[in-house]
Amino acid sequence: MSQTLNIRRVAGALGAEISGVDLSASLSDETIADIRHALVEHQVIFFRDQSLSPAQQVAFGARFGPLNIHPYVAGMDGQPEVMEIIKEPSDKINFGGGWHSDMSFLETPAIGSILYAVELPDWGGDTLFASQAAAYDALSPGLKATLEGLNAVHSASREYSAQGHSAQKRGAMKVAEADGYVGEYVHPMVLIHPESGRKALYVNPAFTLRIEGWKTSESKALLDYLFNHCRYEGFTCRFGWRPGSVAFWDNRSVWHFALNDYPGQRRHMRRVTVDPWPVSDCASIAAE
Ligand code: SIN
Repeated sequence: MSQTLNIRRVAGALGAEISGVDLSASLSDETIADIRHALVEHQVIFFRDQSLSPAQQVAFGARFGPLNIHPYVAGMDGQPEVMEIIKEPSDKINFGGGWHSDMSFLETPAIGSILYAVELPDWGGDTLFASQAAAYDALSPGLKATLEGLNAVHSASREYSAQGHSAQKRGAMKVAEADGYVGEYVHPMVLIHPESGRKALYVNPAFTLRIEGWKTSESKALLDYLFNHCRYEGFTCRFGWRPGSVAFWDNRSVWHFALNDYPGQRRHMRRVTVDPWPVSDCASIAAE
């Protein structure tokens, strides 16, 4: 049986807070479908006052698709799908501290990420989200038409290289350096969301290296324009965490940015990341 979700939008472009559901419970298929529908509609959804063990977070996430095991960031002992995102008081750099979407450096990027707040600083540590569907909508017809014919090359090489942001040492996170050739994958610069049909820009300041078939200098000019355009404040919302808060964002149409504005304090989150169902499973689900 479906349970009633109370949904309250938090900003014009994206984001809604949902109450009336305990994510640690064994939720019905109808309630999961309602949550998925809210995610697709609002692009990022927030829940408050949850209490999730790592196993319960895995169980909830797995209702939406197979869970990703990050190739460079070690998961929890015994629960490899759970990535602990920790900034210790002595750390200078935080994880996710720049605009990005998750895992576009894979051949099949993750569709969503579910982040649970365990411990927060006394102030700061909010996360910003930006709708890439709104960013696409705001472009001129001419630039939309140009981008729709283009692909971009994504790779983990920059972010997880020895010099990369994420590979720099943090007190409590085990981040491996991507050594040698880590693979480059090509994705369309405009994604059509498979569930809503809505178009969104799909470029990623952390992982997009260049536009396929373009010179580096040409690529840089257009990508820099888009990276700047995509973070316009009118496309964003901001989430202030409390212990027990959960954010679930759609990586196909949302960028996020973990603010690094709490020096000397600890912040501890747990993330599971949802991959798409394999195409073969989708076919059998559709046939049911
Ligand atoms: C992330 O980029 O997944 C981390 C976001 C956050 O810690 O707020």
